[in-house]
Amino acid sequence: MAKLWGGRFSKSTDALVDDFNSSIRFDSRMYAQDIRGSRAHAEMLGRQGIISKEDSELIVKTLGEIKKDIDDGKVEFKIDAEDIHMNIETILIERIGDVGKRLHTGRSRNDQVALDTRMYVRDELDEIKKDVETLKATLLDLAEEHLHTIMPGYTHLQKAQPVTLAHHLMAYYEMFNRDSSRLDNCRKRLNVMPLGSGALAGTTYPLDREFVADKLGFDSVSMNSLDGVSDRDFALELAFDLSVIMTHLSRFSEEIILWSSHEFGFIDLDDAYSTGSSIMPQKKNPDVAELARGKTGRVYGDLIGLLTVMKGIPLAYNKDMQEDKEQLFDAIDTVKMCLPVFERMIATMTVRKDRMLSGAKGGFTNATDVADYLVKKGLPFRDAHGVVGRMVAYCIEKNTVIDALSLEEFKSFSELFDDDIYDAISLETCVNQRELIGAPAPKTVKALIEKYKKLI
Ligand code: ARG
Repeated sequence: MAKLWGGRFSKSTDALVDDFNSSIRFDSRMYAQDIRGSRAHAEMLGRQGIISKEDSELIVKTLGEIKKDIDDGKVEFKIDAEDIHMNIETILIERIGDVGKRLHTGRSRNDQVALDTRMYVRDELDEIKKDVETLKATLLDLAEEHLHTIMPGYTHLQKAQPVTLAHHLMAYYEMFNRDSSRLDNCRKRLNVMPLGSGALAGTTYPLDREFVADKLGFDSVSMNSLDGVSDRDFALELAFDLSVIMTHLSRFSEEIILWSSHEFGFIDLDDAYSTGSSIMPQKKNPDVAELARGKTGRVYGDLIGLLTVMKGIPLAYNKDMQEDKEQLFDAIDTVKMCLPVFERMIATMTVRKDRMLSGAKGGFTNATDVADYLVKKGLPFRDAHGVVGRMVAYCIEKNTVIDALSLEEFKSFSELFDDDIYDAISLETCVNQRELIGAPAPKTVKALIEKYKKLI
């Protein structure tokens, strides 16, 4: 097949080069964006009198037909037409001959690919944002159900202080909320229209860049043609934002895996979201959470790969930049796969409140509150800390817990203890009295959930 750029060449490219050079295997997924961009460009060329109105209309109409044929699976792309841009242009020329050859006036594949990639990423970002919002809504529902479900809070994976499952889930809500706003920010910066940058130096044709931007839903046009064709910050930024989403999913997954173990027994995953073993009949494994955790490494790899591709490229376009797509697409695909299945997995899990409560009871999770009791009776905190430390050592020795000590035993450590101590250090009190903004008291968390629900 003759190349669209073949004029100065005396030989056709080696088949190995065709194969090596071609990106159609992976950039064909941008066909809808490519056609949308080309239709806007052709319409603008007609309006500006750069090509005739009739030619402009025929191009726009035929591109619409090509889009429909691709949708219907009737089009086969060709490796030697290199990429999605030249495949579609080739088909256009096959269908309407010389008129089709006018489409690429005042345009380069360099600004074309920058445009298409931005539009593709924008569409996918909007989908991912919806998935994050669905997950956030599920977290709110679950948290509302578990305002009073007491569980141990951990530091260093050692029991620390009692919290509620609602509070724990709402920590993830905050993370996914930030993820969502990061996507919004990314969208703002990517929504700049590069077409009109030409190959690198703009063009002499009187293009109406603002018209095209408006037509394609962009907020503004790029201000430097060299930057317009060579900027992939939006791809890096999205890959980073996706990596952070995966970090959050991965940490959550790790907890789901721990919690569903026999040792914790805090949750039971629904059968529909677990898998078995081919040899051990008793097994029920949290594969969904493990895969989400594992796929996190893959998305990080995509981010690092993209950063590395971009780091040494002189201005403006270089073919290296074709290597942005597979990594970017992989990160997008992976996150789009993980979010919905993770959301369903947590929405359907059974919470074992009894196990969470008994978990909160061991490990002296109320020790801080015993110290605070003494502080409220006048003892300096450092001294109170020492008293309770000695009580903990005593309890370990006696194989008991602080709550089970008699008042005499309490008093043997400090005269400040009275019979109101038992109420003061019950797990319910420990949780309910933490009413500060951001603290786990059910009252506080409930108000927060209500506030967030109103925002939906
Ligand atoms: N397939 C190319 C890419 O993805 C499109 C731009 C090619 N431009 C060029 N002058 N070779 O980057």
